[in-house]
Amino acid sequence: MQTDDAAVVLELSNVVKSFGAVAALRSGSLSLRAGSIHALIGENGAGKSTLVKIVAGLYRRDAGDFRLDGVDVDFTSTAQSKAAGIAVIYQEPTLFPDLSVTENIFMGRQIVGRFGRIDRKAMRHEVERLFTRLGVSIDPDRPAEGLSIADQQVIEIAKAVSLDAKVLIMDEPTAALSGVEVERLFTIARSLRDEGRGLIFISHRFDEVFALCDTVTVMRDGAYISTFPIAETTPADLVRQMVGRDVTELFPKQDAVIGEPLLEIEGLTSPGIFHDISFVVRSGEIVGLAGLVGAGRSEVARAVFGVDEYREGAVRMKGKLIPGGRPNAAMSAGLALVPEDRRKQGLVIDSGVGRNITLAIRDQLAKFGLITTGAENRSARIWASRLEVKSHSLDTVASTLSGGNQQKVVLAKWLATNPDVLIIDEPTRGIDIGTKSEVHRLLSELAGQGMGILMISSELPEVLGMADRVLVMREGRITAELDRADATSENVMFAATHASEQHS
Ligand SMILES: Nc1ncnc2c1ncn2[C@@H]1O[C@H](COP(=O)(O)OP(=O)(O)OP(=O)(O)O)[C@@H](O)[C@H]1O
Ligand SMILES: [Mg+2]
Repeated sequence: MQTDDAAVVLELSNVVKSFGAVAALRSGSLSLRAGSIHALIGENGAGKSTLVKIVAGLYRRDAGDFRLDGVDVDFTSTAQSKAAGIAVIYQEPTLFPDLSVTENIFMGRQIVGRFGRIDRKAMRHEVERLFTRLGVSIDPDRPAEGLSIADQQVIEIAKAVSLDAKVLIMDEPTAALSGVEVERLFTIARSLRDEGRGLIFISHRFDEVFALCDTVTVMRDGAYISTFPIAETTPADLVRQMVGRDVTELFPKQDAVIGEPLLEIEGLTSPGIFHDISFVVRSGEIVGLAGLVGAGRSEVARAVFGVDEYREGAVRMKGKLIPGGRPNAAMSAGLALVPEDRRKQGLVIDSGVGRNITLAIRDQLAKFGLITTGAENRSARIWASRLEVKSHSLDTVASTLSGGNQQKVVLAKWLATNPDVLIIDEPTRGIDIGTKSEVHRLLSELAGQGMGILMISSELPEVLGMADRVLVMREGRITAELDRADATSENVMFAATHASEQHS
């Protein structure tokens, strides 16, 4: 356990990093002790990932101090950082898909036996030992391809442990994990802490920060704000430090006139993925789609929008059948989908913020002969500011935005199309607490104007606060449909984890 006099393993003070005119870090500071799990929190664009990338050797700082075990360091490559005992687990793991689990763990440093041959048996044995110690059951011989993100992260952690890393940094590792997977990750993190390693944990989820960490450092606008023992602070305190004002995390949906059915799904089936899915989304209504990660919710959304095919069933918009497998037809019919994996599916990473936002409405603008830079910029500016996208200008290249700000750009892009029905997958994942209530307020406002919204969310408070009606999925089937009044966390959790009587 951490004590006040435990050695400081990693110390950053007044670290500065600019990219051209953008000051990503003005004064980043953090002091990590051995045997501690240290949370690093702050709004989107506060500079958390930039600080981590300096430690990882991806970026070089412009100024400031960086000490490891009391010794000044200045990494010019990730290899140097690794060799110094630092391991970074990113949200999207970077394993080689074609190589086996064992080969990935021993990447670049194979065990060589007698006669100079690679000793596969020894490597495999070492991996088994690691997995037993970390309490994971993954086949060391299988390829990395097809492993869940959670398993891939565990493999990265196993690799860090096998390299005997003394500092382990996790940058939003839980965003794509289910509850069970988060628990496994936490168990591993705690045992590494107990071995005396230092861990840095970045997350926008306060429940996780309070469950796992012993210390917390808050950043705002590229600068260090404060550090507390976790026991001496509260979520409300931390939000105030992060945002500089009081905010309410959730914005309950306002009453809206619920009108005609807009989107009607009937008996949608894709064998092995989801089965007999039927529901309706009406004008003015927010329908929540709850369930555990892996229940098939995103798959249903993708099929409805035509990204994936389905075997049986029908999708109707305002009574008109939409052909399957054709997103363009779905869009013309007034449907929009904000995908879960926004970086991969929703963003043109080399294009500017403004161009990304207007990407989906360029046809509309063109139709009215309006596709002038002026019209495009006007529309982009409105949505960028409504979603509080923090970027230098509308020309800022999307890849240089912070993770959360990339999310906001994709949201803006689809909201700008002004669809009749919006399907939105994990609307606030990766988005900081300050902007979260803003996204909720916006969705509520859009529903108030007659839009129908299907909202997939793994965050129960979000579902319970926002949805007029809650559908719960489990293992590819809808197991419950609850009106707002009946949608308690107990009822939703029960339906998400137990087979329903009607369907069994
Ligand atoms: N390579 C880059 N080029 C230009 N600007 C950058 C680059 N990397 C980061 N920035 C800018 O630095 C600022 C801090 O970004 P950073 O990714 O560190 O934020 P963060 O705290 O991790 O946010 P989030 O919670 O959204 O992940 C942002 O304004 C971002 O646009
Ligand atoms: Mg980040």
